[in-house]
Amino acid sequence: MTAGTPATTLSLEELTVARGTRVVVREVSLEIPPGEVTALLGPNGAGKSTLVLAVGGLLRPLKGRVLLGEREITRQPPEKIRSAGVAIVPEGRRLLPDLTVRDNLRVATYALDREQAAEGIEAALGLFPELKARWNTPGRFLSGGEQQMVVLAQAMASRPATLLVDELSLGLAPVVVKRLVPMLEAAAGSGVGVLLIEQFAHVALAVAETAYVLEGGRIRYHGSAADLRESPEILHSAYLLRQRAGEPG
Ligand SMILES: Nc1ncnc2c1ncn2[C@@H]1O[C@H](COP(=O)(O)OP(=O)(O)OP(=O)(O)O)[C@@H](O)[C@H]1O
Ligand SMILES: [Mg+2]
Repeated sequence: MTAGTPATTLSLEELTVARGTRVVVREVSLEIPPGEVTALLGPNGAGKSTLVLAVGGLLRPLKGRVLLGEREITRQPPEKIRSAGVAIVPEGRRLLPDLTVRDNLRVATYALDREQAAEGIEAALGLFPELKARWNTPGRFLSGGEQQMVVLAQAMASRPATLLVDELSLGLAPVVVKRLVPMLEAAAGSGVGVLLIEQFAHVALAVAETAYVLEGGRIRYHGSAADLRESPEILHSAYLLRQRAGEPG
């Protein structure tokens, strides 16, 4: 990474999170190392989004710790977690439809000083050069894929050490997903640690070094993404394969 937050591993240590009164993430430990994509897979209701919201400070974990390098960021407010270097893209995040691409990016960098914001936006545009042609276009006129690019660019504009993306392909055509995936690889290539949650397991496993499978709030598998690609029975047991219909090829 040339500037921004230095390359650092984000670690979850036995994180336990409840929704209401029900514990839905149980003692989850995982690591998101810099410079690569880590996949988090699991069936609907497994607790993936809950985990992301807890890391981002939007839900308060009951137990466990979140560390960025040596620095503990558990239970800090969302702005502090972001400024420490952790950017999250929550499931179904939307743009402000009346604001242009430029203004959507500006809003996302409001907490930075002017120079940092300009550098961050430039770095994000380096990853998503297609957005330059849409610079003055309001969010509502962008295609689904372009909107997802802006959402990812917003997260990258804060120059995070770690980026957590919840459901990259939500609502997008397979051909669009295929264009977005190399952009996440490029983000990782620039030194960012990327956690990718993706309903289409093979999309995530094709780019990830390491994969985790969450089911019923617990980690059921942790190992190389390549091993998981070759062991469909592991995914099968977590009911992922029932989602095969309509997968991008
Ligand atoms: N706002 C909420 N209030 C109460 N329970 C919730 C809430 N959101 C989610 N849950 C419950 O928490 C559990 C975990 O949900 P979560 O959204 O984290 O799963 P997920 O793995 O992201 O699923 P999906 O693949 O469908 O996105 C589920 O049982 C869900 O019903
Ligand atoms: Mg989810």
